[in-house]
Amino acid sequence: MDTTEICKANMVSKSHDAEVSWDDEFQQLVQTFPKDKTWAGDNMYFYQGFWCPSLVLKSVISFQNHFQAFDSDVIVATFPKCGTTWLKALTFSTLYRNKFKKDEHPLFSFGPHELVRVFEYDLYLNNPFPDLENACLYQPRLFSTHVPYASLPTSIRDSNCKLICICRNPMDMFISLWHFTDKLREEKMDSVSLDEAFDKFCNGVCGFGPFFDHVLGYWKASQENPNKILFLKYEALKEDINSHLKKLAMFLGVPFTEEEEKEGVVEEIAKICSFNNLKELEVNKKGLHISGIPHTDFFRKAKVGDWSNYLTPAMVERMEKLVQEKLDNSGFTFKFS
Ligand code: A3P
Repeated sequence: MDTTEICKANMVSKSHDAEVSWDDEFQQLVQTFPKDKTWAGDNMYFYQGFWCPSLVLKSVISFQNHFQAFDSDVIVATFPKCGTTWLKALTFSTLYRNKFKKDEHPLFSFGPHELVRVFEYDLYLNNPFPDLENACLYQPRLFSTHVPYASLPTSIRDSNCKLICICRNPMDMFISLWHFTDKLREEKMDSVSLDEAFDKFCNGVCGFGPFFDHVLGYWKASQENPNKILFLKYEALKEDINSHLKKLAMFLGVPFTEEEEKEGVVEEIAKICSFNNLKELEVNKKGLHISGIPHTDFFRKAKVGDWSNYLTPAMVERMEKLVQEKLDNSGFTFKFS
């Protein structure tokens, strides 16, 4: 499959609603799940301990039931708005750096979400048996997901495939998601205010949330199995991208050679994947993401600490208490500015 076909295959109408195609048995099963709304007003269901947007519930189940991981697979696993787009670009560029010429980098022609396809919003949407062999431009296969660690298909957890995760402080993540869903909300009637969204977020009600369960699930798994799961923090990457790229390459089993380092390959990848570069590429200024969302919406400010422009002191206090409570004795910390 060439890149044009991949791009075409990625385009799915935003108006698509998986519920329309649910069969009776599935409908009955779904009735048993607690139900709520995403901040954009779409249904989501509490399934296996996380809030699954209704659009992808069926595809998550197909993914769980049918995906067979290879030991060589690499999977980018993230909570939404924690730096998925960036991590996809970095992983693709690092893993496949010897597969294309410098001036023909696929990121010049395709968005990170087209190059690293997501299981639940793309590959398994409406198709329990997608053609995974032709879903990636290069080998080894590289995919992505927002599904929490505990709900991953057993073959991912049981195989030697590698997972790369990124998390971000919950205040910036919340504000990023707020802006993102605000764009979606324009067309919807039953939306929620910033206050309501914050309240829901603090109560764990948010697509693929609770946020803290998602983050700690992957983090704990990475502590137990560091050769299988690389856990990264958005703020740390912002501070020192080069050393994290070296860590990523080492983890992927493709460390940068001395010669590559001398030639500035690390800096080059960091530059190509940088926010300013990706945001300004024509390919990211036009076109739609698989979910129907314009590519431009995935590039906003990319700042650490932008939350301080939006959250009230009372909200900050509530979040600080929550962070303390959720991370108590975990050894895990967030950087907020
Ligand atoms: P902001 O909304 O705070 O600007 P995701 O990719 O998981 O959807 O996360 C989106 C967030 O990552 C947005 O944050 C976006 O601006 C930021 N982002 C996108 N590309 C980036 C890049 N190359 N480097 C750093 N941040 C990036």
